[in-house]
Amino acid sequence: MSVTRVELAGRSYEVRVGGGLLADVAAQCGPLLRKKVVPIITDANVAAAWQDTVAQSLRAAGHEPRFLVLGAGEATKSWSVLELVIDWLLAEEVERGDHVLALGGGVIGDLTGFAAAVLKRGCGFIQLPTTLLAQVDSSVGGKTAINSRAGKNLVGAFHQPSLVLADLDTLTTLPQRELGAGYAEVIKYGILGDPAFFDWCEAHGPQVIAGDRAAQEYAVDMSVAAKARIVAEDERETTGARALLNLGHTFGHALEAQTGFCDRLLHGEGVALGMVLAARYSARKGYVSQGDAARIGAAIGGAGLPVEVSTLGLNCDGRALADHMLHDKKMDAGTLPFVLLKGIGQAFLDKQVALDDVAAFLDEQLQG
Ligand code: NAD
Ligand code: GLY
Repeated sequence: MSVTRVELAGRSYEVRVGGGLLADVAAQCGPLLRKKVVPIITDANVAAAWQDTVAQSLRAAGHEPRFLVLGAGEATKSWSVLELVIDWLLAEEVERGDHVLALGGGVIGDLTGFAAAVLKRGCGFIQLPTTLLAQVDSSVGGKTAINSRAGKNLVGAFHQPSLVLADLDTLTTLPQRELGAGYAEVIKYGILGDPAFFDWCEAHGPQVIAGDRAAQEYAVDMSVAAKARIVAEDERETTGARALLNLGHTFGHALEAQTGFCDRLLHGEGVALGMVLAARYSARKGYVSQGDAARIGAAIGGAGLPVEVSTLGLNCDGRALADHMLHDKKMDAGTLPFVLLKGIGQAFLDKQVALDDVAAFLDEQLQG
């Protein structure tokens, strides 16, 4: 097992990565679980694969696990499900000093984290991420949210977990397409700030997605270390360091919005294609070489992720995609900061991008 600390003054916590962590969850959480009853939020797919493992460990340590099993999928990050979760936690008499366990992917982690942030003005929670995406990104850093009618992740809070247990065993039951979507967030760390890790991803990315345990472990360790560094530097995305984690997300969110935030394009797939577009747009602006942009596209495509907007079958023009960007929560006094590239490992924030220019670029991309 490897351990990375997210250093945040009085709110520092550990991210432990390894095998068997869910089977040992009671001991791993130790005194954080201060009562007999332990509330756990999960979804139906995760429950089918991992509920018994967690329950056994807790029961063997004298706890009484109580599970709230929600429907799987992005629709679960909603006001109505949040209300259900809060009512359940209140009925379970969860107090501020207690910890709620979030067993699942980014949907369960974001929702449970937000419920914990507002329950009695804030109670503790522990992330038990079961997707590659959640292990390398969403479980670390304390961004919690639900979606609203106006868009994705528009209602939320910064609320750090007390502990993250990323059990690599859970990746064995994860569908391969979900592994690919999570891998987009892995290679992102190389593209935005670590050229040596990008080199490693070029060589080993397909192994991560094919289920190679050593490759997965290295990918998760490196990603967690990068995210922990960035979050410690800029917890609330105020100085610019954390904003670089949005590489590919502005283009990606527009594509997700156009496809209706559904299985047609998973979040990670949108980010993958978004990073390719950010690289090509950076090349068009003369910031990065065409060669580096092509290398990024080849590494992402080589991992089986989408690299051409024209293959999505979108029935729209570049202006429609750019219009989705107007609703981006990063909009700041009429400008939308874009994460662009000066090279592989050299992301920067460009606050001077004209959406008309982006729309023209997307028109070209849509034509293939
Ligand atoms: P998800 O939570 O929907 O999980 C994907 C699918 O895999 C679901 O069907 C789930 O039931 C299933 N699943 C999860 N673990 C499994 C396992 N071990 N075995 C079998 N099936 C399993 O999606 P995700 O990709 O993990 O997360 C996406 C969400 O994360 C989005 O809502 C996105 O906005 C959010 N996100 C948040 C942050 C953040 O910093 N908070 C960062 C990135 C993404
Ligand atoms: N996933 C982006 C962030 O945590 O800031």
